[in-house]
Amino acid sequence: MRAVILLPLLLCWAQGERDGTLEKGRAPAVEGDLQFELRGDKTSYDEDSDICLIIWAELKELRDLTFRMKVELEMLKQENSALEARVTSNKKEVEEIKRENAGRMNKKSFKVKNDNEIGKMGKTDILSLHVSTAKPKVAFSTALTEGPIGPFNTDITLKFSKVFTNLGQGYNSATGVFTAPVRGIYFIRFNVFQLKQDRWAGFYLYHNSRNVMGAFVGSYGRHESASNAIILQLEQGDMIFINLLKGYTAYDDGNNYTTFSGFLLFPL
Ligand SMILES: *[C@@H]1O[C@H](CO)[C@@H](O)[C@H](O)[C@H]1NC(C)=O
Repeated sequence: MRAVILLPLLLCWAQGERDGTLEKGRAPAVEGDLQFELRGDKTSYDEDSDICLIIWAELKELRDLTFRMKVELEMLKQENSALEARVTSNKKEVEEIKRENAGRMNKKSFKVKNDNEIGKMGKTDILSLHVSTAKPKVAFSTALTEGPIGPFNTDITLKFSKVFTNLGQGYNSATGVFTAPVRGIYFIRFNVFQLKQDRWAGFYLYHNSRNVMGAFVGSYGRHESASNAIILQLEQGDMIFINLLKGYTAYDDGNNYTTFSGFLLFPL
């Protein structure tokens, strides 16, 4: 670009010098060597002076254009730094919002209590804990441990004192009652055993005040056992327990023959 402009400019300047038409102050600062060489070839300077005028006009236009571009560039620079400042402040706002949200999430997060804490909790606490948990885990497994028990002249609720598993703390070994921590479908089963003592053992499984199934076994000369199972829909707080029936005996020892267990199949 520069070379293209420079050559016609030199020609014009050389011609202007020869004709005495070029003002001293407007001559471009070009090397004296070039000027000398061009001057040497006088025959090539017979060009129309109109061309020189056009070139000067073009040059002026170029200069103006450069000036305008410089101004525009300056404006663009200013706009750019303004935009940069906006982006930075937006980033800061986003960070602030993120921090606020994180704070809120921490406050809302559910603190899971450890086993020791659950042990110290009352029944209502246990119930509310399980209601607020998305996937409740409920399973219990017990054995009667002692025996013989009975016969009595009334039904009694058996307290299965050996607790293998009590996830969700639904089973209470002090009362022998399993209380459903959540509404759902439960699988419940029990086993009734009798030593070879010529006695009968008879149990009823109760759902609240209603007996829902029984199992009986008589032992004449051998050990015998019977079992039963049910799948039941329980409401939160519903009670399940095993009654030893009036006139019957229950038996167990360290061998875990007589058992009561259940688990939540799925909540509703
Ligand atoms: C009955 O359960 C207790 C306690 O877990 C265990 O030590 C014992 O071995 C069990 N009895 C039998 C016969 O498996």
